[in-house]
Amino acid sequence: MKSEENISLRPYNTFRMDVHAGYFITCYNMEEIRMAVNANKDKSITVFGGGSNILLTKNIEGVVIKNEIRGINQIREEGHQVFVEAGAGENWHRFVLYCLDHNLGGVENLALIPGSVGASPMQNIGAYGVELSEVFHELLAYDTKEAKFKTFNREECLFGYRESIFKTKHKGRFIICKVVFRLTRKPIFNISYGAIRQELNAAEVKEVNIRSIAEAVIRIRRAKLPDPELIGNAGSFFKNPTVSASQFALLKEKFPLIVGFPNESGDVKLAAGWMIESCGWKGFRRGDAGCHAQQALVLVNYGNATGKEIFDLSEEILTSVKEKFGVELEREVNVL
Ligand code: EPU
Repeated sequence: MKSEENISLRPYNTFRMDVHAGYFITCYNMEEIRMAVNANKDKSITVFGGGSNILLTKNIEGVVIKNEIRGINQIREEGHQVFVEAGAGENWHRFVLYCLDHNLGGVENLALIPGSVGASPMQNIGAYGVELSEVFHELLAYDTKEAKFKTFNREECLFGYRESIFKTKHKGRFIICKVVFRLTRKPIFNISYGAIRQELNAAEVKEVNIRSIAEAVIRIRRAKLPDPELIGNAGSFFKNPTVSASQFALLKEKFPLIVGFPNESGDVKLAAGWMIESCGWKGFRRGDAGCHAQQALVLVNYGNATGKEIFDLSEEILTSVKEKFGVELEREVNVL
């Protein structure tokens, strides 16, 4: 365990916000998580994983716990299924690379998503037609209220689109320590997402396998999404909102080019990026706060924007989308 006082959180959040934490404790195993929580019961505790889905608008009072629990291990095999346990502090993409190297299918479409393994179930990360919930088996978390460890299976996590029980009912209560994934040696390739198919064709890929899919995903992400190492950002800032089929029909009459994807329930998921772009925000920049030029759903910090400047920009975007389309956008990013 490592404890530091009054440090800048800039290296620990991908938006690169330069706010401070009074106390910053790095924990390397589950016992240290338990000790750090119990020693700071009287203070508010904020847990950091990869810091890739937060917008910090002010200094963090209380204690920040940085989860650095590492390790990736194959724990069990059942037929072609392989159960792999990973520490919450592992980098997500490093975990995907481990799976590719060991020929384990299931997470190839989720390559290059910034953040940590522990944050992945928190918001049920998803990309290119696959969501984490599809490969999730169970997780082990520390209950800061009851002071004990608890296992959550898939049903108990109440996964939804960029949603889980850890963002809703249990927000702030559990610290995810380890996640077990159910991967497979006989993957069913998911290349239905248009951009992947196009990318595989363009690269004249002869053999579709988990590695060629991951490589296609990496090329698409590099072309469209800003690299947080170069430009501060937290991926999609907003969720894609869902409307009823009848509301979509009305929108389509008024805006024939609007992009929507019907889901099984008959509702339609609208492409928020399209609506934001059509309100004129794509490529907008004020000071160092901006709306990314290749993907309007992503807000960016070109250098020294403050959390408040990014937040204010997101408010303006929300308002203009609401005025033009009558649709309320919801932030995907956690604002602190
Ligand atoms: N679009 C525009 N303009 C834009 C952006 C998008 O017109 O500026 C249109 C596209 O042309 C396309 C549609 O919107 O028709 C969907 O775009 P895209 O495939 O880029 O995906 P997205 O819905 O904007 C979601 C996820 C991303 C994920 C991609 C690919 C959310 C909030 N975002 O974005 O996830 O990588 O699909 O699966 O669901 C993230 O969560 O941080 C993230 C990057």
